[in-house]
Amino acid sequence: MEDYVLVTRRVFRETIDYLKENFKVVDNQKDTILSGEKLRKLMRDAVGVQSSTNDIIDGPLLDKCKKLKVVCNTAVGYDNIDVAACTKRGVMVTNTPGVLNETVADYAMALVLSATRKIPQGERYLRQKKWKKNSLTYPLSRDVSGGTFGFMGFGRIGQAIAKRALSFDGKVIYHCRNRIPPSQEKKYQAAFVSKTELLSSSDIVVLILPHTNETHHLIGADELNIMKRSATLVNMARGGIVDDAALIRALREGDIYAAGLDVYEDEPNLNPGFLELDNVVLSPHLGSATINTRQEMAMRAATNLVAALSNGDPPDLVNPECLKSS
Ligand code: DGY
Repeated sequence: MEDYVLVTRRVFRETIDYLKENFKVVDNQKDTILSGEKLRKLMRDAVGVQSSTNDIIDGPLLDKCKKLKVVCNTAVGYDNIDVAACTKRGVMVTNTPGVLNETVADYAMALVLSATRKIPQGERYLRQKKWKKNSLTYPLSRDVSGGTFGFMGFGRIGQAIAKRALSFDGKVIYHCRNRIPPSQEKKYQAAFVSKTELLSSSDIVVLILPHTNETHHLIGADELNIMKRSATLVNMARGGIVDDAALIRALREGDIYAAGLDVYEDEPNLNPGFLELDNVVLSPHLGSATINTRQEMAMRAATNLVAALSNGDPPDLVNPECLKSS
């Protein structure tokens, strides 16, 4: 069978055209969800895959894909891919860093504002025709300006959100595995603090870190208990970093003030408990979803695919050690 690359979800025409200049392409422009069996069938003889965050690429699947050389995720996050399993089999993995920072940061601030200022609740109140008078005391929300923004994770996207927080006169504190250099801390007026200090002193906690074995359920019942009852939690990172059942309980009990969520455990299968709560703003993983940014992400993934298969040196390789094991 002739070598081909697989594009697992619908992408923009120019991306498919670009790939077709270089390879035979099997694509899924119908955008159907490729179940495990379908994905296995389509990937079995592919030399490269342009994947999406819904595609679970693990060891058993890789064992069926003997020709596979590269998996190019159309996202900066890649927790849908077992990178160690790819490395072991000499399969390169790439992501799309850089191109989405500002877009995701805009959306993070939108969730901070929506959840803390209760913007969707206000709109619902109006649409439900409950707005009969302008009251001085109802409905009320909380201030964003001047608050303490605590970042769990402080990479490129976290820093782009911090830039926005500063323009709201916010105080910036952060916690992450590797402290950033002093010059960067100065740029964002950011103080490195312990996880406990961050949780106990932030008015707005922003999660913007990768989902790994170490960060799974980083925010559970204990952490939510440490947070201020007046605090807002925003998750722009990945489902699984938060224990959703614990968050639902905390929101229901009023242990924290509000949450703004773009990601969930087992998405798109949302825990129905969220739908019963009025103090959470729910968004279906749209942080990077602007036309320009999604076009750039798709082209970036395709560029990685072409480079990986033509010279073995894709610009956004996340597992360079795979080159040694192949
Ligand atoms: C990312 O790039 O990781 C985004 O979450 C994808 O939508």
